[in-house]
Amino acid sequence: MVGLLRFLTATFLLSSLSSVFGAPDVGNCQISSFHFDPTEVDAVVSSATLFPAHARVNFTNLFSSIDVADLPAFCRVAITITTNATANSTAHADVWLPLPGAWNGRFVAFGNGGFGGGGLFLHPVNVADLGFVAIPQGFAGMSTDTGHSSTVGDGTWAGPHNDNAIVDWAWRAMRLSTLAAKEVVKQYYGKAQKNSYYLGCSTGGRQGLKEVQRFPTDYDGVVVGSPANAMSHLQAWSVHISNLIMPAGSPQFISTSLWADVIHPEVLKQCDSLDGLNDGIISQPLACNFRPATLACRPTQNTFTCLNLEQIIAVKKIFSTYFDLNQTYIFGGYFPGGEMQFADGGLLAVTPFPVPLSYYQFMVLNDTSFTQDQLNFSIIELSDQIDPGTQNAINPDISAFASAPHNGKLLQYVGWGDQLISPGNSLHYYEAVHAFTQLHTATSDVNDFYRLFTVPGMAHW
Ligand SMILES: *[C@@H]1O[C@H](CO)[C@@H](O)[C@H](O)[C@H]1NC(C)=O
Ligand SMILES: *[C@@H]1O[C@H](CO)[C@@H](O)[C@H](O)[C@H]1NC(C)=O
Ligand SMILES: *[C@@H]1O[C@H](CO)[C@@H](O)[C@H](O)[C@H]1NC(C)=O
Ligand SMILES: *[C@@H]1O[C@H](CO)[C@@H](O)[C@H](O)[C@H]1NC(C)=O
Ligand SMILES: *[C@@H]1O[C@H](CO)[C@@H](O)[C@H](O)[C@H]1NC(C)=O
Ligand SMILES: *[C@@H]1O[C@H](CO)[C@@H](O)[C@H](O)[C@H]1NC(C)=O
Repeated sequence: MVGLLRFLTATFLLSSLSSVFGAPDVGNCQISSFHFDPTEVDAVVSSATLFPAHARVNFTNLFSSIDVADLPAFCRVAITITTNATANSTAHADVWLPLPGAWNGRFVAFGNGGFGGGGLFLHPVNVADLGFVAIPQGFAGMSTDTGHSSTVGDGTWAGPHNDNAIVDWAWRAMRLSTLAAKEVVKQYYGKAQKNSYYLGCSTGGRQGLKEVQRFPTDYDGVVVGSPANAMSHLQAWSVHISNLIMPAGSPQFISTSLWADVIHPEVLKQCDSLDGLNDGIISQPLACNFRPATLACRPTQNTFTCLNLEQIIAVKKIFSTYFDLNQTYIFGGYFPGGEMQFADGGLLAVTPFPVPLSYYQFMVLNDTSFTQDQLNFSIIELSDQIDPGTQNAINPDISAFASAPHNGKLLQYVGWGDQLISPGNSLHYYEAVHAFTQLHTATSDVNDFYRLFTVPGMAHW
């Protein structure tokens, strides 16, 4: 009874307080409130919508979805950006703004994934991160559609020769959406953000590193997960590793159940306790030289429980730390521990992951008859040269981002069990920045501005 009274009193006090202070300040959440200087960024606001607290926020597009009714109030501003006036190419971005009283003074942008660029519908961006991450924590959040509409695996929009769409996806949509969103923030709150942050993984990681390398003062703090930054080499490795076991049904093919029920348990047996813990999670994959020969089939053995010679050779190559071709480093390999996802949601499925084929067919060779068994060293060299839209984000010089007065900070993470982008790629970029920093500065310490975190047991998705 006392509890109930207390509850009623508190409820009464709260409701009378909000009537004393009136409705919350919703700011100018109207199309007419926003204007862009076309010499800075050629954009228009296409809609501005106020979502009251606990309004249903229910959007689904090709890239992401959200369906909740527990968010604080926010103003959703949709922007259309002309990315190349001559070509009349556009990108779309959303800026979700907490009400002025709830704003933490900070701005955060979110990256995309694969070839995914928004969707066909009204809310073509990464609505999930805007609604689940930015708004509940009081950030003004931004996401771009990267200039086109497609699912993560579909790169057909890039061809034939859709150069402006490629450039937009490669970096331009993110750059211009950043400029436009910061303008929206300034006009809505009457002042600029204190700090700008970026979060993204995979293609989002690549977009983040591109910003750090090319537009070093756009973001103060950048977090990238398993970045697809070395696209021309990542795609070659993806095809190479799939070719090691393809075609399905051949002697070298390894089924999902062989990975899960035969190889994974043996990997745990050989590698799990190297960190002193038999916990099913491999945290020292570099210390383990996995030997698949221990799984070789005896003449009388059921082949669902062991490996033939072709499979043993394939597994050895799949786990080799580096993929070298023609004495050139191309990419890292798979690491022991991720076996459960290699075939199931990874690069070793019966149907190969579609991104590499799109990359070669629609961005590099412009030849839809290309099949992945045709990959050769000259194609890798060609893709390095063309680097469609300058999408590779591999410059080890991030000094403009890191040094004073900007003092940017970069955090990177990757799961040792990543099944789409070798963790070796994250190690490689980190080492490249580390080496570059020491080779070119007398005192600058990479630890002051760039840290890499490897996560045991974590996959790409
Ligand atoms: C959310 O939207 C979808 C259509 O996009 C609809 O099917 C669903 O019923 C909606 N959910 C709620 C709770 O309104
Ligand atoms: C804009 O598009 C036109 C037509 O496709 C092209 O010639 C030009 O190079 C593009 N400009 C930039 C800066 O991308
Ligand atoms: C640009 O495209 C929009 C729609 O996408 C169209 O309304 C407009 O007329 C086009 N402008 C030019 C100059 O082609
Ligand atoms: C394929 O098309 C892209 C986009 O137009 C272009 O950059 C590239 O050079 C083309 N590749 C070849 C081999 O011509
Ligand atoms: C590599 O592949 C391309 C495209 O299929 C082909 O034109 C070229 O002749 C090949 N090069 C070598 C060295 O095999
Ligand atoms: C290997 O690299 C050398 C030196 O770059 C080059 O001359 C040769 O053609 C390459 N081999 C293949 C098969 O591409």
